[in-house]
Amino acid sequence: MFGRDHIEYKSADQVRLMRRAGLVVADVHAAVRAAVTVGVTTAELDAVAAEVLRSAGAMSSFLGYEGYPATICVSVNDEVIHGIPGDRVLRPGDLVSVDAGAVVEGWHGDAAFSMVVPGPDGEEPDPADVALVETTERATWAGIAALATADRLDAVGAAVEDVAEGGPYGIVEEYVGHGIGTQMHQDPDVPNYRTRGRGPRVRPGLCVAIEPMLTRGDGSTELCEDEWTVVTDDGSRAAHWEHTVAVLEGGLWVLTAPDGGAAGLAPFGVTVAPLD
Ligand code: CO
Repeated sequence: MFGRDHIEYKSADQVRLMRRAGLVVADVHAAVRAAVTVGVTTAELDAVAAEVLRSAGAMSSFLGYEGYPATICVSVNDEVIHGIPGDRVLRPGDLVSVDAGAVVEGWHGDAAFSMVVPGPDGEEPDPADVALVETTERATWAGIAALATADRLDAVGAAVEDVAEGGPYGIVEEYVGHGIGTQMHQDPDVPNYRTRGRGPRVRPGLCVAIEPMLTRGDGSTELCEDEWTVVTDDGSRAAHWEHTVAVLEGGLWVLTAPDGGAAGLAPFGVTVAPLD
């Protein structure tokens, strides 16, 4: 963990290239979110994502990655991450997590969101699921905000843990965030929990994907027979949120947020650095 010898620090120009990939991911999110309705299949959501990538001239970071067979990951209910789109039909109240990655001119962006499938007659979703999703998003922004003032990377996991334990929710520890750039997964690891080690120094050029996964249970997971889908051990529902974030001379820029993270960071008193 925290391999600090192989971090690829990016120049401001390289970060601007990564922003292009990040904004394509944001477009994928908007299109897929709009397509999440009762009766849609997860394969249809995958097709929506593929079309956004195609029309942007981008490629999926996931398709073919270690043999992964789809454009995006769609994980439902007790599925935490890496759900493979297929003929599963979404039902009212399902908790859906969508993870997408794009590569543009060799640079990657990676982000995820969760939502509850709205009922056709405006039925209220389970408030406990809504709270899980909201807390997972808040934990992500708290982690990003911590990066803004951190001197070591361990501040991110500590901030995520502080939000998650207020649920209280289980934090998935078997999977972590990661460095990102010319590959989707790079050093360093970015755990979503407090660590003994302080991690690498936070300095300009560091680009990381921060991605808390929280569950309504204890956070332990198992791998399904398809060797991709990760589910909770206890069958509890899970949520996942993720952004790709760059550390710049003047502060942070959230590459997968259309506004660079300004709105998400405002509640924490953090302003984003101008990228242009
Ligand atoms: Co990721």
